[in-house]
Amino acid sequence: MKLIKRFLVLALIALVIIQFISIDKTNPPTDPAKDFITMTNPPANIGSLIKSACYDCHSNHTEYPWYTNVQPVAWWVKGHIKNGRKKLNFSEWGDYSADKRAHKIEENIEEIEERHMPLKSYTWSHADAKLSDNDVESLMSWFRSIK
Ligand code: HEC
Repeated sequence: MKLIKRFLVLALIALVIIQFISIDKTNPPTDPAKDFITMTNPPANIGSLIKSACYDCHSNHTEYPWYTNVQPVAWWVKGHIKNGRKKLNFSEWGDYSADKRAHKIEENIEEIEERHMPLKSYTWSHADAKLSDNDVESLMSWFRSIK
């Protein structure tokens, strides 16, 4: 009993201490002319689907929810954003080569079709990012149309 109590106290202290190690929430500077949606000019409904379902992790326009003030949740969220941008950054579309663009469009179709994206953990807390069957269909056919 004594040991469990000691462990709980230590865990609580650790939890308090890590609150001081917050994440960096500054969005990298971006050139709006290089933005994917600006460059490809999709119909408004497609553009807003991509923005609400993908841009928090795949662009430099991330909106950080309140719980990203709480560690270690914030570290976990930041990890998604870092990896997401590394794989695909819609804000840097203008810097991608033609080959890379073609490859990323292909990957987008796959990820959406297999419903890997947006991440499940994201749609739990962002109901508007949840894609209906209809959304999936129209996103896929639009991505196919720009191949
Ligand atoms: C909560 C953050 C998050 C959201 C929202 C999100 N992604 Fe991702 N995405 C990631 C992460 C993290 C990776 C890299 C690791 C992985 O593949 O799971 C990734 C990887 C990808 C990849 C590359 C896959 C590969 O094979 O390398 C594509 C394409 C992609 N996402 C498309 C999308 C699209 C399209 C949307 C919106 C419909 C979206 N993502 C929404 C976090 C996110």
